[in-house]
Amino acid sequence: MNKKILLLGSGELGKEFVIAAQRIGQTVIAVDSYENAPAMPVAHGFEVINMLDGDALDAIVAKHKPDFIVPEIEAIRTERFYDYEKQGITVVPSAKAANFTMNRKAIRDLAAKELGLKTANYRYATTAGELQKAVAEVGMPCVVKPLMSSSGKGQSTIKSEADIETAWNYAVEGSRGDVVEVIVEAFVKFNSEITLLTVTQNNGPTLFCAPIGHRQERGDYQESWQPARISDKDLYEAQDMAEKVTEALGGAGLFGVEFFLADDGVYFSELSPRPHDTGMVTLAGTQNFNEFELHLRAILSLPIFEIRLEKVGASAVILASENSNNPTFTGIENVAGLPKTDFRIFGKPTSRPYRRMGVVLTNDTLETDAAQVVEKAKSAAKLITVNS
Ligand SMILES: Nc1ncnc2c1ncn2[C@@H]1O[C@H](COP(=O)(O)OP(=O)(O)OP(=O)(O)O)[C@@H](O)[C@H]1O
Ligand SMILES: [Mg+2]
Repeated sequence: MNKKILLLGSGELGKEFVIAAQRIGQTVIAVDSYENAPAMPVAHGFEVINMLDGDALDAIVAKHKPDFIVPEIEAIRTERFYDYEKQGITVVPSAKAANFTMNRKAIRDLAAKELGLKTANYRYATTAGELQKAVAEVGMPCVVKPLMSSSGKGQSTIKSEADIETAWNYAVEGSRGDVVEVIVEAFVKFNSEITLLTVTQNNGPTLFCAPIGHRQERGDYQESWQPARISDKDLYEAQDMAEKVTEALGGAGLFGVEFFLADDGVYFSELSPRPHDTGMVTLAGTQNFNEFELHLRAILSLPIFEIRLEKVGASAVILASENSNNPTFTGIENVAGLPKTDFRIFGKPTSRPYRRMGVVLTNDTLETDAAQVVEKAKSAAKLITVNS
């Protein structure tokens, strides 16, 4: 069972995935747009290409002849994935899953129209004029996002007519890809948001991890914790929606399915057909398998007997504040000396303001209040400074 995996995207999530794969003797080639990306030094080989360039992608697939293509990011020429599937390569979790989730329109229409999942009311717009009409239809406040973007890029909230033009321009700037189109969604007044890590298997039922709570700022997560507080009814609804949407996308692997929990129930928001950044909390030893190990097992069709929550855990991000070509860290000893606390430094070769450079992980017994464990992670993360 020595399989060759082509990992498309080599960030911190890819790095943990590679380490999981190395531990059970698999071969990984890590790909990204720059050298020394976090997953590269721990992989067997690496390639530096623009993954939005279909020809460059074809060339490395032909060169390495992988058994599996494992996307780690959205910004890939995913249309090519259908071809690779035809060539007999397994795209993880499936070409459809990767292709549909790179464009908010495809996944939202699948979820809302085809599967009937509850989502925020939404419209699309391709011009500032259309946006004005769309805003009138969904109502204010509402959230505007480029169809192709991630980590909150180009995303803003419209509170009054005066914001529409600004929101349009901001979305155009933050948009990846050549076609500029936005989704405008009614603002959901949620009480909390969760990620439900969902594992689909080739030879077994769909499994769920305990829900993960998280807090977002500037479109990026700041802290995540597991388990998140949720009613049985809401959890059941979220699991039902996650099962439907992952089944429609097909294939085996771990998905991060995002939901809003509001007074009037659970809203499906979006999903990643791959380990989720908020799922880094599983590196705190909250489960018998972390999200990367689960992804790998599902991909290799290794049975997963159960997913067991073993501890309450939290993660808090370590962000850079400046541009640097040689970022260094201080304060790590202080964090290392804390009980029930661990950390990861991703090894990114450069920094820029708000770039995620590492994460602090804390855990405690299952009886502990998650809020306390989150506080510990937050205050520990503050002890580490990224220097330029
Ligand atoms: N309709 C909405 N109502 C209220 N808040 C929203 C809405 N849409 C998005 N948000 C907030 O913005 C965050 C980011 O939105 P979303 O997940 O859609 O974008 P993203 O850029 O794909 O982020 P990422 O790729 O990092 O998950 C959400 O987690 C939520 O906090
Ligand atoms: Mg999101």
